[in-house]
Amino acid sequence: MENRIKAVISIVRGKFIIIGIALGAAFWFIESVMHVYVFHGDDLIESVFSPGFHEAWMRLVIVGMFISFGIYGQWLINARRKAQTELSLANAELAQIFETSADGMRVVDREFNMLRANDTFCRLAGVKKKEAIGRKCYDVFRGPLCHGQGCPLTRILAGEERVECDAVKVRDGANEIPCIVTATPFRGPTGEIIGIVEDFKDISSRKHTEEELRQSRRQLRELASYLESAREKERTRIAREIHDELGQSLTALKMELHWCIRRLPQDDSLLAERAKKLLKLVDENVHLVQRISSELRPGLLDNLGLSAAIEWQAGQLTERTGVKCDFLSDPEDIILDQTRSTAIFRIFQETCTNIARHSDATKAEIVLKELPAYVELRITDNGRGITQKQISNPKSFGLMGIRERALSFGGEVEISGNEKKGTTVRVRIPKDGTGEAKGDKSPGGR
Ligand SMILES: Nc1ncnc2c1ncn2[C@@H]1O[C@H](COP(=O)(O)OP(=O)(O)OP(=O)(O)O)[C@@H](O)[C@H]1O
Ligand SMILES: [Mg+2]
Repeated sequence: MENRIKAVISIVRGKFIIIGIALGAAFWFIESVMHVYVFHGDDLIESVFSPGFHEAWMRLVIVGMFISFGIYGQWLINARRKAQTELSLANAELAQIFETSADGMRVVDREFNMLRANDTFCRLAGVKKKEAIGRKCYDVFRGPLCHGQGCPLTRILAGEERVECDAVKVRDGANEIPCIVTATPFRGPTGEIIGIVEDFKDISSRKHTEEELRQSRRQLRELASYLESAREKERTRIAREIHDELGQSLTALKMELHWCIRRLPQDDSLLAERAKKLLKLVDENVHLVQRISSELRPGLLDNLGLSAAIEWQAGQLTERTGVKCDFLSDPEDIILDQTRSTAIFRIFQETCTNIARHSDATKAEIVLKELPAYVELRITDNGRGITQKQISNPKSFGLMGIRERALSFGGEVEISGNEKKGTTVRVRIPKDGTGEAKGDKSPGGR
């Protein structure tokens, strides 16, 4: 019945102009009849088709008004119909976007009641749509923000325009789901806030991948650190063996040579000269053995400590390249455990090698400082200056080694360059504990 009335109304609505014309014609006829019977005028046919001038003018004005109203009414109806079509189209679009969104979405009113939820939300929260609608939002999909200052609805009602936060949501089955929650105001026709629209992006798989990546990095770092310490032990062993075994053999050789030289016939000068050359060669080899073994593992590092070893290494740099080194240790002797001393020393060695190979520097300033929580090593040269590209180049393995050594102790590295003014490498290593890596502050560092 209701549908029929609606159908009739829609037909009538479509014919508003015709109704106007019909009403105008009806008025014309009624007026003709009234003219004949009420005012005793001409006969009806004449009154209808040939009225007097004033009579015709009056009827035309009124018929015109009927038709104008018909046109106006039709225009209004058409506009309303068009607006209704557009509105229902927009509604359908919005409903489709809401229902088919890959994110979970729900609408909550000011009293925390759920007004609407999409399928993704229901899947995420583990509820049926019918059961969810009308329940309190914090009963359906609760999290640490519920009932607190961080609650998105509370924050929107307090005046925020958009709330975006990470939250771990708990669904009925007590599963925890890490989500990015975005809440925006849901406004009524006059602009007043009648609730919020909440969007939940499930980031469990992203979190899982991030955790895997973190773990794999941790493992890589541990492996690198293990390999480094194994390499260090091997170096120490080889250095000791070269120093002790080869050194002792050379010393014995030298003593035997001295014995032979003393017993050489006095008149054979050629033989004496050859023997002296041999002695010189042995001496050179003794020095070579000392140098190789101290390069492999400076005895100073184990015997006199980090400051002495760094001072010695700086002296080596000056001796081999002519780069003048200014070294300051504050305090004079810094006592650290062996692994930290070795790490700082190896970092310094790599920096010295880089100064010698790449910097074209004439001077270097080295400061080793002990602070309450960490030890800082700063090396500044006055060379050409490392570029940002070189710092962040993934193939800069020397720099990567510096970073990894520092990071394995939870330390920090800062590398910076100033064109034609020089390069600074600053390393901070905590004095205690291995700690989680703080990171690299230089551009391109991790
Ligand atoms: N003190 C410095 N002054 C100027 N450029 C530098 C300095 N130190 C490093 N660089 C630049 O940074 C680059 C990367 O240094 P890195 O130590 O990682 O590699 P490398 O010294 O070339 O090779 P290696 O892996 O043998 O150490 C160098 O090739 C060089 O161009
Ligand atoms: Mg290098």
